[in-house]
Amino acid sequence: MEIVLSGIRSTGHLHLGNYYGALRNYIKMQDNYNCFFFIADLHSLTTHPHPDDFHAGVRTILAEYLASGLDPEKSAIFVQSDVPEILELYILLNMISYKGELERTTSFKDKVRQQPDNINAGLLTYPVLMASDILIHRANLVPVGKDQEQHLEMARVLARRFNTFYNSPVFPEPKAFNFGDDLVKVPGLDGSGKMGKSEGNGIYLCDDEQTIRKKVMKAVTDSGPTEPNSPMPDSVANLFTLLNIVSKKESVAHFMESYNNCTIRYGDLKKQLAEDICAQTLPIKARIEEIYKDEDYLRKVVKRGTDLARESANATLKEVRKAVGFRSFLNSDD
Ligand code: ADP
Ligand code: TRP
Repeated sequence: MEIVLSGIRSTGHLHLGNYYGALRNYIKMQDNYNCFFFIADLHSLTTHPHPDDFHAGVRTILAEYLASGLDPEKSAIFVQSDVPEILELYILLNMISYKGELERTTSFKDKVRQQPDNINAGLLTYPVLMASDILIHRANLVPVGKDQEQHLEMARVLARRFNTFYNSPVFPEPKAFNFGDDLVKVPGLDGSGKMGKSEGNGIYLCDDEQTIRKKVMKAVTDSGPTEPNSPMPDSVANLFTLLNIVSKKESVAHFMESYNNCTIRYGDLKKQLAEDICAQTLPIKARIEEIYKDEDYLRKVVKRGTDLARESANATLKEVRKAVGFRSFLNSDD
């Protein structure tokens, strides 16, 4: 069975971008693959969260994973920092990762621009840690949104490079995965780029109905097309992208036609969009709080997931150590 791995950083509540770009694929993959899903708490340290909030952030993602339908009986669900094997692989992969290629990563260049006072080494080697998360389980498929394409490419490069460098075929090359043909990019409703936790433009799985309606009704548009088949401004195209993701084909076709013949009323489109988002997210929201409070259940889920993850990670590390040339004086089976 092919191995699937993915994770989300514990940097806030999950939004529609996380759900449609990543989590919905995780849920669909559970029955047909050997799945590992985790919370990337170490990755979230690059932005220095306050220690008092750190654990709650991890617990939030865990509860939202489970409320969305990740099933601990089917998938190994764990927290990155509970699997120290990842960090051993990280240090080894750092030795075959080069400063130039890391500096050229788009996400690093973005961070340099966004947080010039905190360009730490963890940011530079972020893709190496991510490659370790993936390669430690020798994963074949990695369900992620479009923004992670370049990081996945780095994981593939490192897998190939390790295999060649040490002349041992330890790692398969992991592929980015989405059930459609293309990776998904969920836009923000503020007329610009992607929906993101740090962009402040998210519609969250834990939002209530009124909040969702308000956010959608406030979405940026223009004054409407005045000529048939006019090109769409980005803000309106974003609304259609979201409609395509959450609504029925007939609704999309209906609003597209009314855009093209200039009869569109953005208010109606937004109402429909809000309704269709609510239909998907409110049942999830209803489950989040109860799961979040259930300490016993969360502990059981993570215990089972961590055991499975460490077993898989240890098996890989054994191969890795052998390939690199380690032989311990302390352990005669190494
Ligand atoms: P964020 O970008 O909100 O901080 P993460 O970086 O932890 O969240 O992303 C976790 C997963 O969600 C990744 O697979 C990422 O590709 C996906 N993702 C995040 N935002 C979007 C988006 N707007 N569209 C599609 N996928 C997204
Ligand atoms: N870098 C990913 C993000 O920001 C999160 C992540 C960390 C991840 N390790 C991973 C995703 C391994 C997939 C596989 O979205």
